[in-house]
Amino acid sequence: MIENDLLRILTGGWVAQATSVAAKIGLPDALSAGPSNAAALSRGLGVDSRALARLLRLLTAAGLLEENGEAYTLTEMGALLRRENLGPLAALYGSDYFMASWAALEHSVTTGEQAFTHVYGTPVFDFLAGRPDRSGEFNAGMAAGTLFFRRVPDVHDFTGARSVVDVGGGTGALLAEILRRAPHTRGVLFDVPDVIATAGHALEDVADRCHLVGGDMFASVPGDGDAYLLSRILHDWDDEQCATILRNIAQAMPRGAKLLVIERVVSADALLPAAFDLHMMVMTGGRERTLPELRALLTRAGLTPASVTDLPLGLRLLTAVLETS
Ligand SMILES: C[S@@+](CC[C@H](N)C(=O)[O-])C[C@H]1O[C@@H](n2cnc3c(N)ncnc32)[C@H](O)[C@@H]1O
Repeated sequence: MIENDLLRILTGGWVAQATSVAAKIGLPDALSAGPSNAAALSRGLGVDSRALARLLRLLTAAGLLEENGEAYTLTEMGALLRRENLGPLAALYGSDYFMASWAALEHSVTTGEQAFTHVYGTPVFDFLAGRPDRSGEFNAGMAAGTLFFRRVPDVHDFTGARSVVDVGGGTGALLAEILRRAPHTRGVLFDVPDVIATAGHALEDVADRCHLVGGDMFASVPGDGDAYLLSRILHDWDDEQCATILRNIAQAMPRGAKLLVIERVVSADALLPAAFDLHMMVMTGGRERTLPELRALLTRAGLTPASVTDLPLGLRLLTAVLETS
């Protein structure tokens, strides 16, 4: 029924928040040990058993859990909410500052301004810079994208690269995946100084081949890489800011070097990129882009767009080269 379809849309935020809370309290990890009931789970998690029973019922209806008798197990989708998988991302999406920004969506739609700055008085990356706990939660959420990180060295061969520079590389989880698969390649993790100060853990096993550099990509980026990564960066910024980042990279790249851009690509009927596009409008003032828009940004910076490859989670990998002549 069409009314039920509409109600499902209207209550979608509640289901998302319930899912986020389940991840925050560690429910998916508690269920990894095997089937359990509300009473046992509530004791282990230190939460109210009757409230948990109601949360379990909703998560079951949403397809994240299965109930057999009184015992619950994770479905295949529910298992993705464990801490080593998408759990930190689920927790981040339900965080107070994400929710408060979305609550101000009307401000964004009315004015075209980012809601986050309207609510908190400062852009989101400046807000995170002074708050190690929030920044840790944000970086853990970003690093939880390992589903697609692991695929990057499958779809692009880095073994011939002397050096890979990950611009805005966060914790270095993606760079670590690449360096593990390219044993003779060196890596440079570049991000704002606060993030670099706490990065490194993800890169422990490749630390001898990786250099951590703090800086500002709007000023300059490290030179001399023969592959540059920009993973989920361009969507944070407007076209002029993207032009500055890409110009700085093009200036740092030796001739023949490659740039790899990872983004969601907007298309006419795709819900996920459209949802993330609004999320960017609310949180950062950036946007998700169509393929022609991304290619135009690359061309404007003097780069030549090359291949496009699909990645998990609805992401795409675009390559561009700095021509040799
Ligand atoms: C959406 S996260 C993406 C992180 C990572 N590339 C990934 O795909 O998981 C954006 C990253 O850009 C970094 N960043 C923001 N402003 C920056 C700047 N001015 N210079 C360098 N990095 C910056 C943030 O600290 C954050 O790590």
